[in-house]
Amino acid sequence: MAISYKELGLVNSKELFRKAVAGGYAIPAYNFNNLEQLQAILQACVETKSPVILQVSSGARKYANATLLRNMARGATEYVKELGYDVPIVLHLDHGDTFELCKDCIENGFSSVMIDGSHHPYEENIALTRKVVEYAHKYDVTVEGELGVLAGVEDDVVAEHSSYTKPSEVEDFVSRTGVDSLAISIGTSHGANKFTPQQCTRNEKGVLIPPMLRFDILEEVEKRIPGFPIVLHGSSSVPPEHVDMINKYGGALKDTIGIPEEWLRKAAKSAVCKINIDSDGRLAMTAMIRKVLAEKPGEFDPRKYLGPARDVLKELYKHKNIHVLGSAGQA
Ligand code: G3H
Ligand code: 13P
Ligand code: ZN
Repeated sequence: MAISYKELGLVNSKELFRKAVAGGYAIPAYNFNNLEQLQAILQACVETKSPVILQVSSGARKYANATLLRNMARGATEYVKELGYDVPIVLHLDHGDTFELCKDCIENGFSSVMIDGSHHPYEENIALTRKVVEYAHKYDVTVEGELGVLAGVEDDVVAEHSSYTKPSEVEDFVSRTGVDSLAISIGTSHGANKFTPQQCTRNEKGVLIPPMLRFDILEEVEKRIPGFPIVLHGSSSVPPEHVDMINKYGGALKDTIGIPEEWLRKAAKSAVCKINIDSDGRLAMTAMIRKVLAEKPGEFDPRKYLGPARDVLKELYKHKNIHVLGSAGQA
């Protein structure tokens, strides 16, 4: 028995993207897997009056359970009202890799899905994406496709020019698939180790600066499909204060380098209308949990370390909405 996202009080991303492109800001797409992450995202977005995309990977769905997740999303739409501001909420599948997974999500309350065919040859990516779009649009569910491959942790982003999105393909891809938004590859990547120190240069303060994102590709894409919603994955900034806190309290993170906030701000002012952030939330939570457990070794009530972790997470998301994405006040 299919359950529409409309019954859960969710919205698809269409209208949110239209406003974001026109207004020069980006909607936050924050990944979540558990209660505390969801609470932090919702509290931050209510307090900053920001629309939000709750993003769930297939791994997160397995971890949390599809039924619980759907009902958490229903709870989310009620909870924001209870908090005093009815921000629009999208429930989005992150990096869907098969038609079957996308279909299952659409039948279980998702209002938006990503079909990530970027690892397939071009024509196969088109065929798979088109199939998902045809199904999703029957239910008013929006679809994100991807062109170009984001570099993995071990890849050399600078040398792997073939990974970047080819602007010459975007018009054809968008018109033949019918997607509602397009994720592109301009030098961001997933995780907390986006670049090697060897790829970076040091500024006058000794801070490692990564190779510049390929804004020229973004501009070329915008020229070819004006006003079309563009998505940026791999957009964590990997704040040194959280990495340092993790390492201070027993962690062992090395060579962590993220995307500078100014670059994301610049992207958000362009056709980029969805910015994906997961790793920064993981780092913030882990930093605080490590701190509490190190300082209070006798503590064994999960609320006593998950609660403070949730508070740090909320502050992080508020900061991003206000100072990086520009989505604050747009709900
Ligand atoms: O892009 C990937 C997201 O960070 C989700 O990661 O598959 O470990 O849940 P995950
Ligand atoms: P980060 O690993 O940079 O947070 O990227 C997350 C992402 O792109 C989820 O799809
Ligand atoms: Zn991603």
